[in-house]
Amino acid sequence: MHADIVVLPGDGIGPEVTAAAVQVLLAVAKRYGHAFHFNEHLIGGAAIDATGEALPAATLEAARRADAVLLGAVGGPKWSDPRASVRPEQGLLAIRAALGLFANLRPVAPHPAAFGASPIKPHLLNGVDLLVVRELTGGVYFGRRERSDDRASDLCEYTVAEIERVVRRACELARARRGRLTSVDKANVLETSRLWREVTTRVVREEYPDVELEHQLVDSMAMHLLAKPREYDVIVTENMFGDILTDEASMLAGSLGLLPSASLGEGRVGLYEPIHGSAPDIAGRGIANPYAAILSAALLLRHSLGLDAEAACVEDAVAGVLEAGVFTADLAAEGRAVSTREATIAVIDRLQHDC
Ligand code: NAI
Ligand code: MG
Repeated sequence: MHADIVVLPGDGIGPEVTAAAVQVLLAVAKRYGHAFHFNEHLIGGAAIDATGEALPAATLEAARRADAVLLGAVGGPKWSDPRASVRPEQGLLAIRAALGLFANLRPVAPHPAAFGASPIKPHLLNGVDLLVVRELTGGVYFGRRERSDDRASDLCEYTVAEIERVVRRACELARARRGRLTSVDKANVLETSRLWREVTTRVVREEYPDVELEHQLVDSMAMHLLAKPREYDVIVTENMFGDILTDEASMLAGSLGLLPSASLGEGRVGLYEPIHGSAPDIAGRGIANPYAAILSAALLLRHSLGLDAEAACVEDAVAGVLEAGVFTADLAAEGRAVSTREATIAVIDRLQHDC
């Protein structure tokens, strides 16, 4: 298979972890006889420095033409002046919106080898396998914002159509898994959440009666996620709740550096990125955990290229190196950490031998 993949390294550890993911994809291409072409483009702080814009037109055009987009992370202290008119995050929000990527899939399946890195007791982690579907192009992150000297506001808005399409996607995914959907909202307080709950209930009843639906308020969900994570299958929620709950869920897996994501829409192009940010505190030191980016590349193989066997091979290789104790500093006990490069080479070695 021939595929054109746009790579957006971004800022901080973004370039380090996307380089790792690209190396793994090249190894997959060689192993299975595919031709993957990579085109690097600017986004975020790096783009602001070079062009003055967080999402240059050339980047968006390339992404639209590509089969898939692989992204690192954007942002950092250099660009966080609150008075700045352009911010790195605007590039990320803009590309998600422009490509219509309304469904952000964030699988969380803690690996027993990394249980020790989680603050949660191992018996609670055993068998956890959940998928958060975060709405990605609506809600407060995209609402009208206003600011005066002594007042600020961010508007949270959702339309019926926006809720329907992400709930349908979550239902399809639930059907292919254990058939259970938990919808998370704040319907006791927020009007958008009441609409969310109504629409979700109707879509499931009318179109997916075989899917078992439960509603949870986001505050109690934050607790249940740690107290009984095994009970959840697919969790669907609005943009900001999903953002927050998945950083929390990363503690089940043991590190933010282990959670990948896929952002999908109705269109052909998907965007794949680790859920973590640019980690300025460790950037440039070659110690970032590349597994979340590598697992994002596995999602790219599966969802954008339809290469299921190749995706499973990458996931198995990461599981294998975790079992072998190949841990970067975020996972390792004091003194036993490998570098980003060593972790990446270990994954490539394993997929060359085991697939
Ligand atoms: P962060 O996710 O970058 O880092 C949080 C903590 O986790 C840090 O201690 C970091 O060192 C650690 N960490 C994250 N990824 C890691 C990895 N792969 N390996 C090892 N350790 C890892 O979140 P933070 O610090 O709140 O934000 C830093 C910058 O990233 C900010 O400018 C923020 O706006 C941006 N950001 C960008 C995102 C994106 O591009 N999708 C998402 C979240 C934050
Ligand atoms: Mg986040």
